[in-house]
Formats: sequence, C-alpha cells, structure tokens
Amino acid sequence: MRFDQKAPRYHEKADIQKIVADWGSEWIERDCGDLRALELGAGTGLFTRHLALRGFREFRATDLSSSMVQEGRHRLPLVDWGELDAWRCETDPVDRIYSSSLLQWALEPEDVLKNWRNALAAGGKVLVCLFVKGSLSEFADVDARFAAFPWRSESEWIARFEEAGFDVLRNETRSDLIAFDSPREALRSLHDIGAVEERRMSAAELRRFLRSCERGEESPFEVSWKAMKIECVRR
Ligand SMILES: C[S@@+](CC[C@H](N)C(=O)[O-])C[C@H]1O[C@@H](n2cnc3c(N)ncnc32)[C@H](O)[C@@H]1O
Repeated sequence: MRFDQKAPRYHEKADIQKIVADWGSEWIERDCGDLRALELGAGTGLFTRHLALRGFREFRATDLSSSMVQEGRHRLPLVDWGELDAWRCETDPVDRIYSSSLLQWALEPEDVLKNWRNALAAGGKVLVCLFVKGSLSEFADVDARFAAFPWRSESEWIARFEEAGFDVLRNETRSDLIAFDSPREALRSLHDIGAVEERRMSAAELRRFLRSCERGEESPFEVSWKAMKIECVRR
C-alpha cells in the first residue's frame, strides 16, 4: 500500500471509504464523556470526524504515516493526532479502539487483534469497519496476483476476533457497487488513494490483465465492495 505518498489526495478520492466510515459511525456510542479512546489508521479523518463530536474524556487519532497524520491534523486541528503502528498498538490502556478501512490490510490479524485486546482496559470495546471477501472481485477473480492480501469472509473475521479474546456484540455487512468508465479508470482510482501494493505485474501483463477484466462488457465497469462493521468487547 502507498497511503503515505497519496495522503494529500486521499480525502477527496476515497469514496467507498467515506461511505463505510459514515455507516460505521452509526454504532459509536452517544455519550462518551467517561471514555478514553484511540483510533488506529485514522488516515485523513473520515471516521475521526465522527469521533471528534462525541466528547471523549481522552481521544487520540493515530496513523503509521506521518503525511496522513499531517493531513488529518490540518483538517481536524482540535483532535490530538499522533503516529502509531496499529499492528503493534503500543499504548496506555484505553476503553475504546476504533478503526475504519484498515484491518483488512493486516497480514497477521490474529497477532494484531491480540495486541488490540491487550491495549484495552477491562470491559473495553473495539468498533471496526473493514472490507471483506467479495470486494474487488471483478479484479481479484481475474488474476490472483491482484489481491495484495488474502481476502477473508465475515465468518473468518468473527472467528479471528473470538480467538483473540473478544466476544462479538454485533456485526453487519453491506455491499456497494461503484461505477467507472473502464477497468483502467477503476484501477486508477485505487492508485489515486494508495490502496494498491507495489507493482506486481509488468506493463504488458497489466495491459493483458485490464483487457481480460473488460469481458466485452459495455461501460460502466462496476466494482464490488463488501464491508463489515463489528463491535466486540474484551473477554
Ligand atoms: C484506507 S486508509 C483508511 C483511513 C481512514 N480510517 C478512513 O476511513 O478513510 C488506511 C490507513 O491506514 C494506515 N495504515 C496502514 N498500515 C498501518 C499500520 N500498520 N498502523 C497504522 N496505520 C496504518 C494508512 O496510512 C492509511 O492512512
């Protein structure tokens, strides 16, 4: 992923991430005045802007990328921003952990979720929005090399949370289709927000790949996204 290089453009271009952040925010508690909260992989603040309204006793929005943190701070200057590696999550204990459009990138989610659990105080909760299997299938089904990480289904994620020491309180999924003029435009939009791995195909392979994605269909080329929101409590 190249989020660090794309930080200035991310906020305007991240259409599906914005939809998912707004949808996930419906599950943020109303009264957070007694709670200490941490957001991981906050990016430019699409989910943060909802958290910022809840009046937490303490709230810190974090990201691994210094340019994302800089963008976030610029957009939401009243929020306390900082750099933090979400996979390790080395922090003082908090009551709530939030993340949106981050966790699907974790190559070892079991370890990550155990670290999140350990960062929570007794009774602490996580609210996570992430993309699950079925997302970008128009690309991933054509060539397995397209997927930068193994897509996991809702049930696989629920099992990961439970194995890490959480009880699942509720979960829900949604499906969206985003239309583009062509597979090339769709891929460009992923590049624009940095949601791609380092180059895995040569230019010739990429051209062949995009041609096979077209499947002779007229535009628009629709790209599937499947997102899950899940709220869990530390066991
Ligand atoms: C798709 S963006 C999501 C940003 C924001 N939460 C949103 O909903 O728009 C993923 C973010 O996770 C950050 N990220 C990736 N790996 C990370 C890690 N190990 N620790 C913290 N942040 C990470 C990236 O820098 C990027 O800002």
